[in-house]
Amino acid sequence: MTRDVLECERLHKSFGGVQAVGDVNLKIQENQVCALIGPNGAGKSTLVGLVCGRFEPDAGRIVFDGQDITTLPAHARIRLGIAYTFQITSIFADLPVCENVALAARRALATTGLPRRTYTRARAVRHRVAASLEQVGLSDLGAHRAGDLAYGHQRLLEVAMGLAQAPRLFIMDEPTQGLALQEIENFKTLLAELAGSTTILLIEHNMDVVMGTAHRVAVLDAGSLIAQGTPEEVRADRRVQAAYLGTSTEQVLK
Ligand SMILES: Nc1ncnc2c1ncn2[C@@H]1O[C@H](COP(=O)(O)OP(=O)(O)O)[C@@H](O)[C@H]1O
Ligand SMILES: [Mg+2]
Repeated sequence: MTRDVLECERLHKSFGGVQAVGDVNLKIQENQVCALIGPNGAGKSTLVGLVCGRFEPDAGRIVFDGQDITTLPAHARIRLGIAYTFQITSIFADLPVCENVALAARRALATTGLPRRTYTRARAVRHRVAASLEQVGLSDLGAHRAGDLAYGHQRLLEVAMGLAQAPRLFIMDEPTQGLALQEIENFKTLLAELAGSTTILLIEHNMDVVMGTAHRVAVLDAGSLIAQGTPEEVRADRRVQAAYLGTSTEQVLK
């Protein structure tokens, strides 16, 4: 039986007088890729901020693996297995690439009960670092200072940091933003590899990536979810087409 990893129930969040997220219900099943799309300012980053614990909702409930996490602090959610890459790069520029990934791995392994300074733990970290860098194609750059990487590689490093946490839910906020065409293709391949074994909430503007990799697509517009379904269902939805008016729907949802 498939189970829901994440359930958002009637979430509301306003900033000042502006409603960023209004009455949003969203469920993500285990090992599925759910893409969250919508115009700029639709509330996508706010919604994932609520799931990560960056913000607390004004109303509503967030259930993760059956546990109510609505008011849990962000670090506790990381321990439960929620990993994320933000829209803004959040790496430690002065540290080597591999050390950035090791920090993420150690943070996640801190909860497994392995004593802090053991050979076993160090080996587990090394293993995760190597595997994660390999998955995103950065193995050769492990010793480089992270701040010296090209922008696209920094984004991939963030993905590696998330993978090193072996997350139960991996949230990616516009991971392909600023990537070159070939890098986007590589990223699609990576997503396809992860799909089916990792639960992913993907905010993504590139419809090629969304339609090619997501099992489900949810569409936010002005803080409300206006459609949810398979990529095909969402593509055919009139309200979705209307939300993208001004840009050619054919182009946006091709
Ligand atoms: N920290 C914040 N403080 C004030 N307003 C915010 C904040 N974050 C987002 N907003 C506002 O909430 C709305 C939704 O923004 P956001 O969630 O970033 O949209 P998206 O990620 O879909 O582009 C926008 O009107 C934005 O200006
Ligand atoms: Mg955003």
